[in-house]
Amino acid sequence: MPIVIAVDGPAASGKGTIAARLARTYGLPHLDTGLLYRAVGVKMLGEGHSLDDADAAEGAAWSLVPAGLAEDERLTTGEAGEAASRVAGYPGVRAALLELQQAFAQQDGGAVLDGRDIGTVIAPDAQAKLFITATAEVRAARRWKQLTARGFDIAYEAMLADIVARDERDAGRGAAPMVQADDAVLLDTTDLDIETAFDAARRIVEAARAR
Ligand code: DC
Repeated sequence: MPIVIAVDGPAASGKGTIAARLARTYGLPHLDTGLLYRAVGVKMLGEGHSLDDADAAEGAAWSLVPAGLAEDERLTTGEAGEAASRVAGYPGVRAALLELQQAFAQQDGGAVLDGRDIGTVIAPDAQAKLFITATAEVRAARRWKQLTARGFDIAYEAMLADIVARDERDAGRGAAPMVQADDAVLLDTTDLDIETAFDAARRIVEAARAR
């Protein structure tokens, strides 16, 4: 039976890693939907638009070419994440990216998608829904480690402030805010290493498949 797995949660909660591993485990295609918003944000910056320009952001979203985003290093920076969070608040941007994500979720063999609104808006009928979280402090520390290991010079405090601001914006917006779906299972990874967290996620999916 093909299965659709929806993985939502805040930045640096571990949802991307968990979603990618679930996809490998079940042999499913995986879409990191954050990359779509990051690509729109980076395109805006690259073309010299203000992130306050909702019309330009909507135009950038409609003209987005999704191929190759996973290999684009420019989308991995903190600046890209921040720009993504800003443009993600525009309903026109979300509308432009909706069909593409829903088509991915509805493909015949099943799929794994991760983001903020997968279980609520993109794939409300997904058989397995996970909402992955962790305290802001632990998430900031994880992101700080990743970025400093890649040579970025950034203070932990700045990282934490960034994460808190991003949470507030993603959860507080009117259009498809980040929220746990009623039927999603909460997985708090604050005290879990990635192996234990993945194991817990796999058990949640197994329980959903058995239903
Ligand atoms: O998961 P990420 O850090 O790559 O996401 C970057 C931003 O994109 C996030 O702060 C909010 C936005 N986003 C969204 O609004 N909806 C999604 N499904 C995925 C990401």
